Amino acid sequence: MRRKIAAGNWKMNGTAAARSEITALQAAHPDPRVDILICPPATAIAALSENAHPIHIGGQDCHVATHGAHTGDISAQMLVAAGADHVIVGHSERRTDHQETDALIAQKAQAAYAAGLKAIICIGESLAERENGSTLSVIDVQLAGALPDTATAQNTVVAYEPVWAIGTGKTPTLDQIAEVHAHIRARLRARFSDGENMSLLYGGSVKGSNAADIFAIPDVDGALVGGASLKADDFSPIISALENA
Ligand code: 13P
Repeated sequence: MRRKIAAGNWKMNGTAAARSEITALQAAHPDPRVDILICPPATAIAALSENAHPIHIGGQDCHVATHGAHTGDISAQMLVAAGADHVIVGHSERRTDHQETDALIAQKAQAAYAAGLKAIICIGESLAERENGSTLSVIDVQLAGALPDTATAQNTVVAYEPVWAIGTGKTPTLDQIAEVHAHIRARLRARFSDGENMSLLYGGSVKGSNAADIFAIPDVDGALVGGASLKADDFSPIISALENA
């Protein structure tokens, strides 16, 4: 059985003062039929993970090492100590802002596994790649490079986020999402014995008004949501759409 996941990536937004959003999600979804995950900035993980049940709290990145001379970085173990049970790795903003490569992302995923975190590994093509017809080959390179051989349905979630759909209000057509998700599923099945059971999320301008259509696509097991996850009032309808999919 694949886990269905409604995941919010708050990016560089929010502090411990955003507790009211977690409280509102708890009130609206006391007994959710899907996994609900919020990934706040690292500085807010400890505060927001207190009494967060049934909301899961995750990090947005981790270092490959457990500790050491890496100023400004945070290890997977530190995320666990703060109360996280998931971590996003390889988000396109980290690939762009911090020159992260698929090889580094695979190392980060392995660091997450070693700490007992589930890794949400992000992949997705740029607009230029979409327009020149290389989407599926870009996805293949990213899957091959960023997913460790030790990935399983227990420790890994794959998030397909077309870079051009992130924060733009533009989404691929439902057929385009279906094509890429079917392609990723085939690759996961071929490479991993439990690839059929790995959860596969779509991300990029998901909102309450398009969530149900996206969740009806085969092989879409949930969403990784940016802007529309910041407020419980916006995120809750997306969670409900996934519960009813
Ligand atoms: P938006 O939902 O704001 O487009 O962001 C998507 C995203 O990058 C989630 O990781």
